[in-house]
Amino acid sequence: MSEEERETGAASGNADGADEETVVRRDRFAGGPARSFLSSLSDDERIFPADLAVDRAHVVMLTERGIVDRDTAGEILSALAEIESAGHAALPDGEDVHEAIESAVIDRVGPEGGKMHTARSRNDEVAACIRYRLREDLLELLSAVVGAREQLLAVARDHDETVMPGYTHLQPAQPTTVAHWVLSYEQALQRDTGRLLDAYARVNQNPLGAAAFAGTPFDVDRDRTAALLGFEGVVENSMDAASARDFLVEVTGAVAGLATTLSQLAEDIVVMASKDHVELDDDYASTSSIMPQKKNPDTLELVRGRTGDAVAGLNGLLTNLKGQPRAYNRDLQRAGRHAWDAIDSVTESVEVAAGAVATAEWPADRLEAAATEGFATATGVADLLAMAGVPFRTAHEIVAEAAAGLDPDEDAPDYDAIAAVAEDVLDAPLSEYVDRTAVESALDPTESVGMRDSRGGPAPSAIAGQLSTAEEQLAVDTEAVGDHRTTVEQATDRLLTEVERYA
Ligand code: ARG
Repeated sequence: MSEEERETGAASGNADGADEETVVRRDRFAGGPARSFLSSLSDDERIFPADLAVDRAHVVMLTERGIVDRDTAGEILSALAEIESAGHAALPDGEDVHEAIESAVIDRVGPEGGKMHTARSRNDEVAACIRYRLREDLLELLSAVVGAREQLLAVARDHDETVMPGYTHLQPAQPTTVAHWVLSYEQALQRDTGRLLDAYARVNQNPLGAAAFAGTPFDVDRDRTAALLGFEGVVENSMDAASARDFLVEVTGAVAGLATTLSQLAEDIVVMASKDHVELDDDYASTSSIMPQKKNPDTLELVRGRTGDAVAGLNGLLTNLKGQPRAYNRDLQRAGRHAWDAIDSVTESVEVAAGAVATAEWPADRLEAAATEGFATATGVADLLAMAGVPFRTAHEIVAEAAAGLDPDEDAPDYDAIAAVAEDVLDAPLSEYVDRTAVESALDPTESVGMRDSRGGPAPSAIAGQLSTAEEQLAVDTEAVGDHRTTVEQATDRLLTEVERYA
């Protein structure tokens, strides 16, 4: 629709007399330069379907309560169906989608269409729309996260014996495995999932019936609109219902936390790629426009970079909210976008990061060789001496001193070098404590990993336990996401059935 048509309502197929009335109403305030500044209509495209659902549920409830008669309800609900088919772009001008849809209803039904807005305000309406839409986005994000966890678990299953170097301070530390590394991220994503699911429960609450903030004299049924919209409860206090946006903070906070997990994963892969410790699939790499030899981990760098969007979203949102008095202020119109930006940005990141890990190749020989660099098996040798009765601090000193005599190109001292220092310090031959083969095993990265079979450790036997608990939790979380989806779908069907009784 053209701007002119929007303003005059010319293309809306109005009933008699509706034109003048709606135009007058729309033009009462801010017809001047601030008109577009005030409007959220284009941003509101995201909540257009949500607003139609909220309108429908409200009209059904009003009719059941005898507040609106059945014929008027039928006309309003039929008008809403037309407005839905015409789409957001066909809406008349308005400060926001709520006003534009109401105008479009009145254009079709006549003044009686104005009964749709009985016992409500745009304040409870927009809060309901944001919650309704956000839960959809949350379910999509949650599906992506459980999908990613599934992909990571598959990598862990395939690589429980693929030894790789583990780092602290980015310095070689101790040998571990690809499975152990990847499971560390799966565990973090498990907690991110938990935070998103917790947030979901508080998002999925009904603010409708709060009106502007101060309730209404009409005998509304807030449980009924909750049921029709699939909300699992009611935001009790009407002032809270209209003003609360902490559900956005909670979601955006959980999203920023998730983005941070992904960013750390991405950073690990960027570092691994720089050392040829991982071979990314071509689909997840990019090249240079000038340097023909380059294969760069750009997708992971973008995952890392997008974390900034989520963190910025959380910052923007908190800054928007912090100074707002009760009960409603127009600042709130700018709150939702921070959450949308964060969630859109990170949902894609989840898929890309998991895809990059799932399709990558792990060069076992190079990784195993790298796992001994910088005498990364040193702790295992000290542990071996300590297990034979040498106080750990003494064992630590023996190994440190043996390592101090290394040539720069040597990664680890051999048995004889360790034995010489040990004999000095212990005043007894090393063979009284441990034999040569045990020390040589401890110096071998694969054996070193195999020794560390404590709960949660990298030994394949310990990985098996972690894998099975992770699989169980994944099944629980996948079911929770599926149940939420089913609840939403059932409510959508229920609302449709009710609407069909009138329209
Ligand atoms: N577009 C507004 C928003 O997103 C709707 C509520 C307007 N309410 C008001 N009292 N001006 O917050």
